[in-house]
Amino acid sequence: MLKFWDHIPFSKKMNSIVIPDYINSIHPYEGGKPIKEVARELNIPEHDIVKLASNENPLGISPKAKKAIENNIEEVSRYPDGNAFYLKEAINKKFNISSNQIILGNGSNDILELVARTFLTVNDEAIYSEHAFAVYSLVVQAVGAKGIEVPANNYAHDLEQFLLAINKHTKVIYIANPNNPTGTLIDKSTLKSFLDNVPKNIIVVLDEAYDEYLDDDIKSEAFGWISNYKNLLISRSFSKAYGLAGMRLGYGVSSSHLIEVMNRIRQPFNVNNLAQIAAIASLDDDDFILNSKKINNLGMKQITTAFSGLGIDFIKSYGNFIAFKFEDEQAAMMYYQHLLKNGIIVRSIANYKMPEFLRVSIGLELENDKFIKILSNCNI
Ligand SMILES: Cc1ncc(COP(=O)(O)O)c(C=O)c1O
Repeated sequence: MLKFWDHIPFSKKMNSIVIPDYINSIHPYEGGKPIKEVARELNIPEHDIVKLASNENPLGISPKAKKAIENNIEEVSRYPDGNAFYLKEAINKKFNISSNQIILGNGSNDILELVARTFLTVNDEAIYSEHAFAVYSLVVQAVGAKGIEVPANNYAHDLEQFLLAINKHTKVIYIANPNNPTGTLIDKSTLKSFLDNVPKNIIVVLDEAYDEYLDDDIKSEAFGWISNYKNLLISRSFSKAYGLAGMRLGYGVSSSHLIEVMNRIRQPFNVNNLAQIAAIASLDDDDFILNSKKINNLGMKQITTAFSGLGIDFIKSYGNFIAFKFEDEQAAMMYYQHLLKNGIIVRSIANYKMPEFLRVSIGLELENDKFIKILSNCNI
């Protein structure tokens, strides 16, 4: 007896799966090289390798978070609380934001992607800056929307040009503050007047993954703006100063309406049990954040002083990393390889249209020392 597929012409069966053009043309995100990979490929013992490539906290995890994870390890056999009740309560306690204005993500990348998946269609446009964090263009392209890259002004976001790029198709604007990989910062009054000028039907995503590293006078006040700007969504990360990059946890803060709509398509258990438990403990460890910031300030000084001594140009950074410049792409790649061969992993940012730059994350004093020593020993 013939089956239904026997009626399908042979030529049709042979056809390959059609992948949308906008997916086919995506260049996957490239992260910093993992320590284990470098150890394996270059035959260097893991303990001799210093990774300064992914803007992680060189102090590691907060002791309070570590203890909380150890005490709750058994929880992994249970599904997490999909609503993260206690974590939202902890965020509420710390920042005075109600639970219905918070959405949790598997890293803040998840939040950036949820915005694209919730609000963008193939007819829409999203605006972001040249040299801005790579995930914006990726998530926009992944839903088939059009990404509009606004030229940077001396590597920084040019918000006046953002306003000029707005048209009837614009639905979302992504802003990184501070931005990665450039480390540039937009001041609060410029941001506020930008928000005043953006039509209220456009969602402004303010990505503040590095806010904990800012001094008090320049720290974001945007959580206090959400009641006035219902189209504003702020994303925060536990991967940087909180030292929980491997746990994958971030959150978004916005008007309850936007949060409710985004929650409809969020994976029900996108934030795991231990991440929730670790984050609650981390939020209660101000000393750890203070110390992380202090170490970062000292390390930033150590590295920028060395750059100046070596005649290496860099972009002033407000994050826990810094982009530094060579004569051209070839020189940057030679230094990259030289550092790698000597066990120092930094990051090429050629994919950010900055091929003559490398980016180094700020490490502990001894790690920074090693980086500086190997950098200055390079006879290219
Ligand atoms: C500006 C910026 N936003 C968001 C992220 C995403 O961080 P995560 O998904 O680990 O929270 C990063 C990570 O490098 C970043 O640099």
